[in-house]
Amino acid sequence: MAVILQRELRKFVAPEFIAGDNSRVFAGRYAGNFHSKKILLTTSPQIIDMKWMAGITDSLSDAGIDYELFMDITENPRDTDVMRGSEVYSAEECTGIIAVGGGSVMDCSKGIGIVSANKGHISDYVGVDLVKNPMPPLICLPTTGGSSADVSQYAVISCRERKCKNLIISKSLVPDVSLLDTVVLTTQPDEITVYSGIDAFTHAVEAYVSNGSSHFSDLMALEAIRQTGNAFPYDPSMAYDLDFRFKTLLSSLYAGISFSNAGLGIIHSMSHAIGGMYDLAHGLSSSLVMGAVIRFNYDAAADKYRNVAKALSIKTSGKNDEEVKELLLEKISQMMGTFCKDTKLSSFGASEDDLPFLISNTMSDPCVVTNPKMPGKSDIEDLFRQVL
Ligand SMILES: [Fe+2]
Repeated sequence: MAVILQRELRKFVAPEFIAGDNSRVFAGRYAGNFHSKKILLTTSPQIIDMKWMAGITDSLSDAGIDYELFMDITENPRDTDVMRGSEVYSAEECTGIIAVGGGSVMDCSKGIGIVSANKGHISDYVGVDLVKNPMPPLICLPTTGGSSADVSQYAVISCRERKCKNLIISKSLVPDVSLLDTVVLTTQPDEITVYSGIDAFTHAVEAYVSNGSSHFSDLMALEAIRQTGNAFPYDPSMAYDLDFRFKTLLSSLYAGISFSNAGLGIIHSMSHAIGGMYDLAHGLSSSLVMGAVIRFNYDAAADKYRNVAKALSIKTSGKNDEEVKELLLEKISQMMGTFCKDTKLSSFGASEDDLPFLISNTMSDPCVVTNPKMPGKSDIEDLFRQVL
């Protein structure tokens, strides 16, 4: 079969990273390479007490680098967290940030970096390419295998007053280096492991079927899908299995580089609206809508979904699109395991009255633009009703 080359112009942005066991010990050396004398160490109270954290703080001491701790970061980080963090950054005269945590810590750190370099309020930078000055050096150590904030040009910041999540997208948000350490993933709670895996998987699938995809992003997306298929479903007995953790780390890395360049789709648009309204874990809110969105999008990217199925080792030969779609959805359900099974939006207090708000926030989310099928308002309403 002839290969059709897509020669349209595409740009591709990727950060520096070190992946493998114990890569966290390079934190001090990298902070030194950026000539930082004092850094803001952003993390959470749960993480700071982990035994492996000493590998990071010792590396800073060895490099002669002082640090100020900032841990006032909520899950689904808020604009208020960012503004408080940027005040601490300025008051302590920091010249760099090391983020040790999941997507919330890393996104908040990106927000702190934006405000520190550009002044004003974080809400001034919501949208695409509105960050003028580059952030101070940012070193990320992801403690979950899924958000990919450590390699992406995205940050999601919540506004509790307006009950919404805002996206900031800019090349300036790509961290300077990501230290992908298998060991730090072993201390994640079980449900976070599953939610993070779902997040990485949705990043890969949405990037792969995105109308902004390219050869480069496709390569990464398909490999992320393969790795996730090899790694999941998760069982708590796998918590300290470093091979499993490494698969999830690679899956997050490949999916993150892919979506950062190709864009996402309406799984994320709906998930952002849901997360903003009910303050749910991002992977959980994505899992609620993933099946319905794949059904909606399927005919617009049937060949690509077939490749997703193949990457998950589903036998597709001799099967029509309808059969492949059902096998794919069944496989995804198996991979998610029991953590998110049969959960509906109403379990979190959602009702019919919330639909206009959810629909409006979904339609204004930037990820709609790269969805393979342009949804109308009624399509989004129908999708929300399916998962209510
Ligand atoms: Fe995501």
